[in-house]
Amino acid sequence: MLKKNIEDICNRQIEREGYSSNLYLAMASWAEVNGFSGVAGWLYTQSDEERIHMLKFIKYVNERDAKAVVPAFKKPETEFKTVEDLFKEVLKHEEFVTASINEIVALTLEEKDYNTHTFLQWFVNEQVEEESSARIILDKLHLVGNNNLYQFDRDIMSLRATAQGTPATT
Ligand SMILES: [Fe+2]
Ligand SMILES: [Fe+2]
Repeated sequence: MLKKNIEDICNRQIEREGYSSNLYLAMASWAEVNGFSGVAGWLYTQSDEERIHMLKFIKYVNERDAKAVVPAFKKPETEFKTVEDLFKEVLKHEEFVTASINEIVALTLEEKDYNTHTFLQWFVNEQVEEESSARIILDKLHLVGNNNLYQFDRDIMSLRATAQGTPATT
């Protein structure tokens, strides 16, 4: 069974992954109504992935004979100044999530909970990719996007594929 403090910090992460999913959903909706269908597609996919992250924690906590709690989520922002501002927020948020995952890793070592420590390794690697993919997008925006948002919006899904090292499917 999970120690109480490990259970609590995993439940904190369930809230953070679920909030991430809602945040990217709100961003996707903003992009969609503002005519950025590519950016919206990228963010809808990202939102789905964050929900899967939340599920991974829920299932792990329950599997270890502890109790996952699905909380209320605070309402994300609904307005963003520009596409660049939006992606700066994505990067900032991913850096926050990385720090959050690292705190759990540190606690598992303190508590000698090597099972949870192993479970977390997938998230440690995932956060490297998440931050990198947000930075690649911001780099592209600096290179071309702000002068040609049409092209940026059209190509953003292929950037996502590049960031993850897998070929684009569309
Ligand atoms: Fe996540
Ligand atoms: Fe993420």
